[in-house]
Amino acid sequence: MLLKLEEVTKRFGGLIAVNSVSLEIDEGEKVGIVGPNGSGKTTLYNLISGVYIPDGGRIFFEDREITNLPPHERTKLGIARTFQVPRPFGSASVRENVAIGAMFGRANASVDEALEMADRYLEMVGIYDLREKEAKLLTPLEKKLMELARALAMKPKLLLLDELLAGMNPQDINRILDLINKVKEEENIATIAMVEHLMHAITKFAERVVVMHQGAKLIEGPTMEVLNHPKVIEVYLGEKLK
Ligand SMILES: Nc1ncnc2c1ncn2[C@@H]1O[C@H](COP(=O)(O)OP(=O)(O)OP(=O)(O)O)[C@@H](O)[C@H]1O
Ligand SMILES: [Mg+2]
Repeated sequence: MLLKLEEVTKRFGGLIAVNSVSLEIDEGEKVGIVGPNGSGKTTLYNLISGVYIPDGGRIFFEDREITNLPPHERTKLGIARTFQVPRPFGSASVRENVAIGAMFGRANASVDEALEMADRYLEMVGIYDLREKEAKLLTPLEKKLMELARALAMKPKLLLLDELLAGMNPQDINRILDLINKVKEEENIATIAMVEHLMHAITKFAERVVVMHQGAKLIEGPTMEVLNHPKVIEVYLGEKLK
């Protein structure tokens, strides 16, 4: 077991954003996390990565309890994520932004190593030419690719992608999906979890899907089985399945 959540709850005032969610993710899995807007997906990531401490429940990573561990310690253990809304260090260069991942992630690289790793991962995601630019000058799409490079440079065991593909054109989506599938094997990343609204991206990537609804886990299981389940179709009826 790589990651285990036991009845994890997070409240914001009167609102229960994540409601007693239990979840297990095994090493090697590719998991899709879907659910309507506001169903708690990003909050779940924030709980796993340590941005928030849960109001109830416990979280384990490789059998070690991490419920109250600060984010940078979880990063060292091998949990990396991208943000739905990227937050670069704006005045630093793209290369430096990615190198920071290599230095403070599980890779624990020296400055020189980190800069070399940054170049390698920028090349991999396809924005090597932008490496000297100030990060704040990137387009939203380029910022997402930079975040992916930074997360990869951390050498994670668990990579959490939060709507990485949103706003990309179909060509870029296919390129990034192929890339993610490839780096998972080559970089020995145990597990990738992906939050996406794009169902064809989920079906292309995920072996297993977890559906969130109003802060709770509605259903989980093999991708096609779950996405065709009447409960899931009902939840999405108000929204369009894309
Ligand atoms: N920091 C916060 N303060 C107050 N409420 C919050 C906060 N973060 C999230 N929420 C609320 O918690 C609920 C779950 O939000 P969350 O962002 O986890 O949903 P989501 O599934 O990621 O949605 P989306 O698909 O739109 O990204 C929403 O009602 C949201 O408004
Ligand atoms: Mg979200």
